[in-house]
Amino acid sequence: MKKITIAIDGFSSTGKSTVAKQLAKKLAYVYVDSGAMYRAVTLYAMKQNFISNDYFDVENLILTLDTIKISFIYNAKLGFAEVYLNDVNVEHEIRTLQVSQLVSKVAEISEVRKKLVEQQQQMGLNKGVVMDGRDIGTVVFPNAELKLFMNASAEKRAQRRYDELTERGDIVTFEEILKNVKYRDHIDSTREDSPLIKAEDAVEFDNSNLTLEEQFEQIYKIVETKL
Ligand code: C5P
Repeated sequence: MKKITIAIDGFSSTGKSTVAKQLAKKLAYVYVDSGAMYRAVTLYAMKQNFISNDYFDVENLILTLDTIKISFIYNAKLGFAEVYLNDVNVEHEIRTLQVSQLVSKVAEISEVRKKLVEQQQQMGLNKGVVMDGRDIGTVVFPNAELKLFMNASAEKRAQRRYDELTERGDIVTFEEILKNVKYRDHIDSTREDSPLIKAEDAVEFDNSNLTLEEQFEQIYKIVETKL
């Protein structure tokens, strides 16, 4: 069977990574969570005190970009790859609300995008990859055989994110999650460099009223037509 590239884009918490992981497992493809890479750069900037809620030293972040190494290491127990920042596992740390509140500011920086897009394209050189993010079908893999654009209501998305974070023990409120989801959607879709837009040839998918099983079934039918 020929290997293809699957690009999944969409707003925050639309379930992109869930379906991407399901597809990667079913097809024995590599799954790449590109958002995790922007989150790792953000965590780095936070640790260096380059960014906080009211401060952003863009210049020094850009100057030190070359010292940031992001890697994905497969965890067989979990069944997916975890993110490492300069050889330290940051899988848990990059998913906090604090990182979510700053990541879209970091993702606006063209130098950051350039570095990460290059690495993403390298990871997809041999195809057989499912990558999710905001600009995968438009910038990273404009020739991807299959492009999906996921959507769901902001409330549904915030509820999913809230459940995810509280399940792992984070103390957050639904209101702050909803605010963050809307805030990131706004910055991500209005930024100058690589804004979140649906690629012309992407299949749009609203999963507000679908179970995970229904969603996967419908998406896999589309995938099969491309294999
Ligand atoms: O996918 P996730 O919600 O973890 O992504 C976190 C943030 O990273 C997004 O809100 C967006 O600002 C940025 N991002 C991006 N381009 C991508 C993936 C993520 O700008 N391809």
